[in-house]
Amino acid sequence: MDWGMKNRLARIIKPDTGRGVMLAVDHGYFLGPTERLEVPRKTIHPLLPYADSLMLTRGVLRTSVDANFPIPIVLRVSGGSSIIGKDLSNEKITTSIKEAIRLNVTALALSVFVGAQYEHESLVSLAKLVDEGEEYGIPVLAVTAVGKELEKRDARYLSLACRIAAEFGAHLVKTYFCENFEKVVNSCPVPVIIAGGPKLANEIDALQLTYDALQAGAVGVDMGRNIWQSDYPVSMIKSVRAIVHENASVKEAHELFNKLKNTEKSTKTATSV
Ligand code: 5RP
Repeated sequence: MDWGMKNRLARIIKPDTGRGVMLAVDHGYFLGPTERLEVPRKTIHPLLPYADSLMLTRGVLRTSVDANFPIPIVLRVSGGSSIIGKDLSNEKITTSIKEAIRLNVTALALSVFVGAQYEHESLVSLAKLVDEGEEYGIPVLAVTAVGKELEKRDARYLSLACRIAAEFGAHLVKTYFCENFEKVVNSCPVPVIIAGGPKLANEIDALQLTYDALQAGAVGVDMGRNIWQSDYPVSMIKSVRAIVHENASVKEAHELFNKLKNTEKSTKTATSV
């Protein structure tokens, strides 16, 4: 692998643990002002020190992240449909490679919609993006199983989607956790990270999901709502981090969360008076 490509990937998946914590805040590109991400800067800023990388669109990057903060950026460069539109799978590449380089990004991210109406277009876009990324040493994260396709959340479908993304040249694949997740990871020749999905009932459920995915071979998370929709987002990202980088058990991570949340609670109270 080219030095630049290898170096960029090492900024996302940390070589000392072989794992990474990516914070996903790209939801607005089709969901608009998602709950607790209404003012992106307010949500993102406190979490930045605890994320290895940040996944977002260029609009939120430019307006809501301090350029002086040294966090690797995974830039979402696909879009074109909204949650109230006809078909979420109707996406194209929305940001050029030149713009990505200007923004000094570490990786590019694009969704593929295997099994959906625009499957072909999204896969061809992936191939094109990989070609462009390869030219400049910028890795591509393929985001699999979004929107309606998420209803098919089983190892058979997710293995198919992840494997196709890897065959098209994606350097990293993001998908959802499912039963028999080992099958998804083992049949995907590039590293797999998991999205958290919609907010789960309790923080311990998201910690369990993280733990189970790593046990099954995932190299990290690209998590959004289960972190910043928690009442204690900083405590949550730190606890996810403990599982990813320190091999904490679910019990240990949850104890850490409970301990940290008391401090986060008192800081919030102090700043609100
Ligand atoms: C949506 C995305 C999100 O980044 C992804 O779903 C991760 O966020 P969450 O953990 O909230 O599911 O790519 O297309």
